Amino acid sequence: MSLSEQIKSQYNNRKSNPNLYGNNPYSNAVQKEIKDGIEDLLKKYFKNFDELSLLEIGAGNGTNAYIFEDLGFQRKNISFNELLEERVTAIKNNFPENQLFIGDATNINTTQKFDVIFQSTVFTSILKEESRIKLANKMWELLKPNGVILWYDFIYNNPANADVKKVTIKEVKALFKGAKLFDIKHVTLAPPIGRKVGKYYNFFNFTFLRSHILAIIQK
Ligand SMILES: C[S@@+](CC[C@H](N)C(=O)[O-])C[C@H]1O[C@@H](n2cnc3c(N)ncnc32)[C@H](O)[C@@H]1O
Repeated sequence: MSLSEQIKSQYNNRKSNPNLYGNNPYSNAVQKEIKDGIEDLLKKYFKNFDELSLLEIGAGNGTNAYIFEDLGFQRKNISFNELLEERVTAIKNNFPENQLFIGDATNINTTQKFDVIFQSTVFTSILKEESRIKLANKMWELLKPNGVILWYDFIYNNPANADVKKVTIKEVKALFKGAKLFDIKHVTLAPPIGRKVGKYYNFFNFTFLRSHILAIIQK
């Protein structure tokens, strides 16, 4: 089965997780923490964001781009990639002027290089090690020297969901052996706890209870 076929079949079977992505106190706190974390990390590596080019791999419906616009990226400098048809349509509707690479990201064919390549919970959807290595290599190839991969994904398995698989920090480091540096923050109060504590997110948000990492991987 090709990587595209694997992802399509997983998403056909999938139950959505309204708690992490919906509009509720837990989801809002998660989103705010991600946005603040991205801003803190990117500010360490770039003085201004307005001239930076950004590519989001596996961009879903594209709405993460609003985070980057809010932080000062220009909309025209944001490019997208996605393989699921209905999400590609959403990106086209939301961002009709923007560059969009349709299909499996490992097949992106361009000579363009980017300052920032963002992936958010894409690698954990890819179960095979060889596909993860292929995608990491493609992202590396698309990155400018001194450019950064911005990484958001989970580091613990979810026993209730066999369609996804953790990517540990050790694996991230092995995927990008040529990196100059890794700058890693632990974020996201784990969903089983976060769902229960809701609006008390910040009160319970201890590092050891966080399920995801936000990382800069510099070329
Ligand atoms: C969990 S969703 C996350 C969507 C978005 N990044 C976000 O943060 O909301 C993972 C996305 O990655 C996409 N994806 C997975 N593997 C891909 C690949 N090889 N090429 C392009 N997109 C891929 C899926 O279609 C899906 O939309």
